[in-house]
Amino acid sequence: MNTSFSSWEELQNACESCTKCGLCETRHNVVVGVGNPQAEVMFIGEGPGENEDLQGEPFVGRAGKLLDKMLEAVDLDRHKNIYIANIVKCRPPQNRDPKPEEQEQCIDWLRAQVRMIRPKIIVCLGRIAAARIIKPDIKITKERGMWFEKGELLMMPMLHPAAVLRDPRRKPDAFRDFLTLREKINEICERTYG
Ligand code: URA
Ligand code: SF4
Repeated sequence: MNTSFSSWEELQNACESCTKCGLCETRHNVVVGVGNPQAEVMFIGEGPGENEDLQGEPFVGRAGKLLDKMLEAVDLDRHKNIYIANIVKCRPPQNRDPKPEEQEQCIDWLRAQVRMIRPKIIVCLGRIAAARIIKPDIKITKERGMWFEKGELLMMPMLHPAAVLRDPRRKPDAFRDFLTLREKINEICERTYG
């Protein structure tokens, strides 16, 4: 695949017409991502659900509303100072986990996005994203909120907001991780908080 794009728009357009894996057959929209392509902080989820597939934007269902609330608590905003994308850009039917081969086909899009954005921090939401991006044997409940370094890049696994909705006792942990994130942004980012 042509992995170098001359503009952000070219990358987006190419992704929107992708048919590299079987998920293209059942999708309504390719969910490329949302946010500021100049962001210093990127969030990466697993893949679109039903609402995302219908609206073409990541995290717009119930989990997304919770994510927006936690973002707001630390002065982050999906339309201003972060970028949000997923491991797979098309909805897996019945919201099943994306298959390894689907992830493998789709990850080039994410790589291209990361190459263009060049974030300082990547937050992985949930096990699927953290396993693909940080390390295959990640233990989310144990390792959430910890920093992992890859060269210049800092990465943190967090609980998936859908998991927090399923078990609200996890809310304090989830919130604590956003505070940890804010501290690090204050330390190393120049533009995020203006
Ligand atoms: N869950 C995800 O992982 N990504 C979305 O975009 C929505 C729900
Ligand atoms: Fe292409 Fe990714 Fe959609 Fe598969 S999931 S068709 S690789 S954009």
